Amino acid sequence: FHVDWDVSAAEKGGYEHFMIKEIMEQPKALADTLKPRIQDGRVVLDDIKLTAEDLKDIHKIDIVACGSAYHTGVVGKYVIEELTRKPVEVDLASEFRYRSPILDQHTLVIIISQSGETADTLAALRYAKTQGARTLSIVNVVGSSIANQSDDVLYTWAGPEIAVATTKAYSCQLGVLYLLALYIGDLLGTIPADVYRDYVAELLILPDKIQSILEHKEDIQYFASRNFGAKDVFFIGRNVDYALTLEGSLKLKEISYIHSEAYAAGELKHGTISLIEDGTLVVAVATLDRLFDKTMSNVKEVKARGAYVLGLTTENNRKIEQSCDFVFYIPETLDLLLPSLAVIPLQIFSYYMALMKGCDIDKPRNLAKSVTVE
Ligand code: G6P
Repeated sequence: FHVDWDVSAAEKGGYEHFMIKEIMEQPKALADTLKPRIQDGRVVLDDIKLTAEDLKDIHKIDIVACGSAYHTGVVGKYVIEELTRKPVEVDLASEFRYRSPILDQHTLVIIISQSGETADTLAALRYAKTQGARTLSIVNVVGSSIANQSDDVLYTWAGPEIAVATTKAYSCQLGVLYLLALYIGDLLGTIPADVYRDYVAELLILPDKIQSILEHKEDIQYFASRNFGAKDVFFIGRNVDYALTLEGSLKLKEISYIHSEAYAAGELKHGTISLIEDGTLVVAVATLDRLFDKTMSNVKEVKARGAYVLGLTTENNRKIEQSCDFVFYIPETLDLLLPSLAVIPLQIFSYYMALMKGCDIDKPRNLAKSVTVE
């Protein structure tokens, strides 16, 4: 009697790849990141030293990161500005220290990194410190260089991430940015009590909502099975949907090698629309009710030029079916939290596009999990 024991399959928990295992782990990873920091309806960040006094003294926030961590920062700008009314800039770490950013003791620099070891991000942190800025990092690896060298650290509790393309770390970084924005807004008094309460309640049920999306992953798998031959994919969205499409596009290109780009939907007519031909695949993310009609008018423009459109919206926007060829619905939540839900189908889409193409999903060519050289 002989039993085949496949160590690597065991590590993947029965999944074919680490990426899909990590996608499926997101409800737990996000719950582990959020729940210990929400006590009796309040965000409690015992791990950081920033006080209300310190925050009143902060005039500007800079978020600095690379890759997908940068993309969470782009969402974070919308979230932090809305909830705290502090101006936020977002920079790629590889650009930050070469543009002489305006930094002083009144600046809070938020550094985001899964590994905590990305060379450019670490250099940006050190630069910010030399300029006297206050630093706070959002990191997944305990004891990493970035965690050790920043004034404050908020850990994402995603657990080890093995696939080169990040999924659960992205989701947990977003989760921490939401907590941080609520925390700062609370200390500064910029969030009405009922709004604060709604955010906290919604954050707590985000993991369950993600779970419900994962239970429909076969719908996205089906769509990918019909579209993996695409040569170019254009992602469009507005506001946080645009911020999210940056990540959707990166995810797709890095593992499936399909050319893709993300555009603010309103920018289409300033150039990109000339690239739309018969059959070009467009992914339209339209989760925000207040901008839904605007994005649909952009969908009409690309449809008129022959595009084939996957629409992503929330459950109450059934009228999207009049405009798009295929639709995937996510549950409702507060506007600023929608990227947490909308990123899930985009991750699944990339995974199945790459799977159908036979790509090396967990180790895409030319890419490394942690880029420790400049
Ligand atoms: C690499 C990874 C990306 C990651 C980026 C930043 O490019 O493939 O998934 O977003 O580095 O890494 P960090 O560890 O700093 O988040």
